[in-house]
Formats: sequence, C-alpha cells, structure tokens
Amino acid sequence: MKLCVVGSGYVGLVTAVGFAEMGHDVVGVDNDVRKVESLSAGRSPIYEPGLEELLLRNMEGGRLSFTTDLAQGMAESLFCFIAVGTPNADDGSADLGAVLAVARQIARSLSGYRVVVVKSTVPVGTSKKVDQVMREELGLAPGVPQERFDVVSNPEFLKEGSALEDVLRPDRVVVGVDNPRVAELMKELYAPFTRNGHPVYLMDVASAELTKYAANAFLATKISFINKMAELCDASGADIMNVRLGMGSDRRIGMPFLYAGVGYGGSCFPKDVKALIHTGEALGIPMGILKEVEAINARQKEIPLDIIDRLHPGGTDLKVAIWGGAFKAETDDIREASALVTLEGCLARGHRVALYDPEAMVNLKARYDGRVTFGKEPYEVLSGADVLCLLTEWRVFRTPDWDRVKKLMRRAVVIDGRNQYDPRDLSARGIECYGIGRGLKSSSR
Ligand SMILES: NC(=O)c1ccc[n+]([C@@H]2O[C@H](COP(=O)([O-])OP(=O)(O)OC[C@H]3O[C@@H](n4cnc5c(N)ncnc54)[C@H](O)[C@@H]3O)[C@@H](O)[C@H]2O)c1
Repeated sequence: MKLCVVGSGYVGLVTAVGFAEMGHDVVGVDNDVRKVESLSAGRSPIYEPGLEELLLRNMEGGRLSFTTDLAQGMAESLFCFIAVGTPNADDGSADLGAVLAVARQIARSLSGYRVVVVKSTVPVGTSKKVDQVMREELGLAPGVPQERFDVVSNPEFLKEGSALEDVLRPDRVVVGVDNPRVAELMKELYAPFTRNGHPVYLMDVASAELTKYAANAFLATKISFINKMAELCDASGADIMNVRLGMGSDRRIGMPFLYAGVGYGGSCFPKDVKALIHTGEALGIPMGILKEVEAINARQKEIPLDIIDRLHPGGTDLKVAIWGGAFKAETDDIREASALVTLEGCLARGHRVALYDPEAMVNLKARYDGRVTFGKEPYEVLSGADVLCLLTEWRVFRTPDWDRVKKLMRRAVVIDGRNQYDPRDLSARGIECYGIGRGLKSSSR
C-alpha cells in the first residue's frame, strides 16, 4: 500500500521506516530542509538503535524516499499520516498548531480520496478538529457526508531507545475509526505487523485519542509512585531495591517502570501528563492524582542538587562530573532530561560541570558548549571532581573501574540517580554513594 508520513522526527521517521520495512511504499515529508537532505543521503538525524541500517536498506529497495513537498508526498498515497510535534502551549494544553496546519495543507493538496491518520499524540476531540479544518479548506459543510477523506486516530506507543522494535512488533495497534470500510483499510495496512497475533484494537475515535494519554499518564504515575516509596525508604531505613522486588514480582503490579530515580523526562511523559491535566480540568474533572505525579517528579529531579548542597553548604566552584545527559539510555534525546536540572543547578551555583554521554553529546553541545566541559569517554570528566552524578542508565556506566574512579576524583562521592550501584559495595571501596531510596544512613536526605 502507498502512504506518506508528515513529520520525520522520532515518531514519523521510525514509522516511515517501519512501514517500508514491511513492504509498503512510503514517502516521508518534513518541512525541515536540512533534515530531508540528511535523510535523502541515508543519514538519520536521530540516534535510534538499528534505524540507519533499515533506513538505507529501504531507500535502496526503492520503498522509501523523503521530500519537503507535501503535495508530492501525497500524490500517490492512500494514507497520509500526521506525525508532527504537539508541545505544550503556555497553559499546559497540547499545542495543535502544527497538526492543524498540516491538516489544512493536506486538504489543499487533495487530488483524490485519502485516509488522514493522526499519529501525533493529541487530546480527545482533535480528530474532529482535523475534519473541521479540512472541510473549511475544501468548502465542505460540517457534518454533511462527504467522500473526499476520512480521519482516523492511530496513536503511537513506541519508546525511544527501542522505537524500531516497538514499531515493527507492537504490543497492540490502536485505531479509532468511525467508517467500517476505513477500519478494513487500516487492518490491511497493519496486517504485516500483527501476524504474530498482536491485536489491532478498533474503537471509536475519542477512546483511541484518550488511550494514548491514559497509557502515558499511568506509566508516569508508576514512576512517581515508586519514587514516593523511595522517599519513605530513605526516611525509614528501608531499601527501595528490596521493596520493588517484593512488590513488582506480583503479576498484577509488574517490574517495568518501578525504578526509583531522578524522575522521568523526555518529550512525552512531562508534556502528556500536563496536557491530560488540562483536558480533565477543561471538562470540570479535578486531576489531583496527576498533579501529584508531576510534583513528585519535579522533586526527584532536584535530589542530586540537594545532596551536593548538603555535602558542601554554601559551596561554589566545585567540580561536578556528570555521567549521562540523555533523558534515558539508548537515545540522544535530551528533551526534559533530568540531567539538565542537575547541570543547570550546578552552573547557577557557580560549580564547574564536566559531562559525558555516549550519544547525546551533539545535542548537549548545541545548548551548553562553552559553559560545560565535555569528555570523549567516561573517565575523562572525573579528574579532580568533587562529586560524580550518574543520571542516565547507559550500560557503559554500569560496572566502572572504581579504583580508577577513586584515583581520578578529588573526593570520591557518587550520587547514583538511577540506582545502578550497590552503596554498600562502594562504601567498602572507600567511596561515598548516595542512591535514591536506598535507606542507608549515608543517603538520608
Ligand atoms: N518521541 C516519542 O517517543 C513519541 C512516542 C509516541 C508519540 N509521540 C508523539 O508523536 C508526535 C511527534 O513526536 P516526535 O518526538 O516525533 O517529534 P519531533 O519534534 O521529533 O518531530 C516532529 C517533526 O515534524 C516536523 N514538522 C513540524 N511541522 C511540520 C509541517 N508543517 N510539515 C512537515 N513537517 C513538519 C518537524 O520538522 C520534525 O521533524 C508528538 O505528538 C509526540 O507526542 C512521540
């Protein structure tokens, strides 16, 4: 089948590559000229494991191309996916400017019947708005049956870091669709992805739109819940690593997303929790549960700074080494990364920051070059450091050479923001280690 995907960011690009890999003919469209030039040369502008290889393979196979020209991308496509960004507006709501602008552009470029698929994360009611603005462009009356286009909601559940795998083998595909004929087309489009038995859930459009926010808000809640338990652990002498094992092994609860740490970041959870709070309140429904999730998360991000302040009251000009800048491992994405709170807090206190991240250095340098020292490998940032903060759980940081760490640092203090290390083990090696909720005297906040 032929389709175009408008927006070639984390979601649009991986979606385009995924559809091409399954044998469909795909055109990726983006209005960022440099991005399209890079993609057309077979270079991925983002880091995602395995992506560039599949990008090249499918371009060489003639199933995937990129353009800045939406009309050209749409020319042969039955499906037009919208996968552009939906950042928060000032009031916390999702800014639909890009989604609706693309919808209008699609309407202006219609040369035959098209299925317009909203893949961006959008609040309940947005697909109706897409229908409305397209009708306005085409001079069609609201609510009157028409055969120029249909609008479908098809939220994306991929995780950065395993995005390709998630797209190629989704747990489920959620499709919000009113027209049964279009439902069949969507099932046909996704058939290659669901042959392994994973379901396509067909539902009404509003439910599909809300499902995406419900899923993200629940995962954020799980993280904030375990972080609240970590606070209790610190206050009571319990160890969150034991508590998570004891509770997470209950199949009704499950281990994933039950890691205490310096909070969630990234381009989705923070903005989607905010947008869902806004949606609820606009409907007159108090959203206290999610406000607390946000408040706990904001507090978690401050923990490394609190520990540094406590160890060095009123101190300035410390050297702070940071391992990890990406919001999580296996991505170069630094949007809303917890590490940035530590980094900026240190700079504001007059400390010097030296940072290493395996993939996010280009994005970090674009923002902090000249203010932060960047290392070429993990140990380079440690020399003379007063404290090391581990803020992203990259595998390369998992089993450091502690003797080397100790030798390089001025004072051997580790703030383990992702609970990767055993504080007792480090203590035995003469290294002070502060985890999150490890309940040891040394980490009491
Ligand atoms: N990143 C994730 O992990 C993830 C997961 C699931 C859902 N989502 C949702 O998917 C959507 C996209 O997220 P993303 O992370 O891919 O965003 P992104 O910022 O990485 O990519 C958006 C792309 O759209 C392009 N664009 C913007 N306006 C355009 C226009 N008028 N025409 C053509 N291209 C245009 C931008 O140049 C950019 O390349 C958001 O709604 C997000 O919430 C993201």
